[in-house]
Amino acid sequence: MEIKDYKFAGKKAIVRVDFNVPLDENGHITDDTRIRGALPTLKLILEQGGALIIMSHMGKPKGKVNPKLSLAQIKDAVAEKLGVPVQFAPDCAKAHEQAAALKSGEVLLLENLRFYPEEEGKPVGVEKGTPEFDEAKKAMKESQKEFAKTLASYADAYVMDAFGTAHRRHASTAVIADYFDADNKMLGLLMEKEVQAVDNVLSNIKRPFVAIMGGSKVSSKIGIIENLLGKVDRLILCGGMTYTFAKAHGGEIGDSIVELDKLDVALGVEELAKKNGVELVLGTDSVCCTGYDFSTFSVKPGAEIKVFPSNAIEEGWDGLDAGPESRAKFAKALEGAKTILWNGPAGCFECDDFTAGSRAVGEAVAKATAEGAFSLIGGGDSVACVHKFGLEDKVSYISTGGGALLEAIEGKVLPGVAAIKG
Ligand code: 3PG
Repeated sequence: MEIKDYKFAGKKAIVRVDFNVPLDENGHITDDTRIRGALPTLKLILEQGGALIIMSHMGKPKGKVNPKLSLAQIKDAVAEKLGVPVQFAPDCAKAHEQAAALKSGEVLLLENLRFYPEEEGKPVGVEKGTPEFDEAKKAMKESQKEFAKTLASYADAYVMDAFGTAHRRHASTAVIADYFDADNKMLGLLMEKEVQAVDNVLSNIKRPFVAIMGGSKVSSKIGIIENLLGKVDRLILCGGMTYTFAKAHGGEIGDSIVELDKLDVALGVEELAKKNGVELVLGTDSVCCTGYDFSTFSVKPGAEIKVFPSNAIEEGWDGLDAGPESRAKFAKALEGAKTILWNGPAGCFECDDFTAGSRAVGEAVAKATAEGAFSLIGGGDSVACVHKFGLEDKVSYISTGGGALLEAIEGKVLPGVAAIKG
């Protein structure tokens, strides 16, 4: 079923959203992007006269009740954004009465789904690899079905709108769909937008297609990099992984971050790029520092900052950002791009001394977008860069997905999508 065709009037809809939002020490939301992202679906249902049951996880409570991860903390913020009062069900598996009493236009928010181990479906208290584990796993799969069935019993329709969690095959993101027939389950508006944005960079490609992959480890991005090397025209690799590539060619990288056991992986990436005719763009110089505090994102008192060639960094210096030559190279590589994917920063952007690389990338993406490119930005840090540099309105689409976006770009079918679309 398509959400635009469903008639919500007089119906109860249970909507899986991703309200896994960051909270400060007082329980206040510090970034409400994901809540704002879900509003169009939630409002559509209410405006049509449906009743709304909202469910989400928050954090990783590992199947136990943890007040610090209670969704009660965000109830008022949700009510304010929806413009209607929100009731709260303190036990998501025992909300039958509250759900049954809901009237048209009313909203019920369920407590954190992950307070129940059944949500994730992982056995608790048994060690992996033991015969007990296999037994416990089987039993847990059955309890997970029961849990999903309970959630399903609250509503007439199921809407999956949690893109950020769509890569998980959990009770509320996928298993629950088995308890609704095809006419009563659908993707929400946010999911539709996210899936379309991914499709724009995976199938519906306008060329040249330039991807920018940043971040510290080539190993954590290798699946995506390999998939992208079959699709892009140019691939910019930046951030900490620069030094694994430099080291693989015998470069001196000082105290910079490196994956010494992944030098062959870096060389393999270069080989694959060559074979596929993809231009690989790596930084050639780096802004380095003699004393950076990664826990406070600040330069230690008395520490020095200097630019080195990325393959000739002296001992005691740590490469923390793309240098001026690299920044110009990245900007040039983005010129004339018609499809852009950006995931991962070009440096330690959290500290003002090392923002220039990520800023150069962000501004070049914005420029290409103004000239007609479709640009998709995903992953917490690159999204944070876009906000930091005030580029929100200058890129085409900012994804709410972290791991989910990366898996989608790797070409994997997301369980949350498959549960609806088959
Ligand atoms: C996220 O923050 O990426 C999503 O909410 C998924 O969370 P998870 O990685 O704990 O499943």
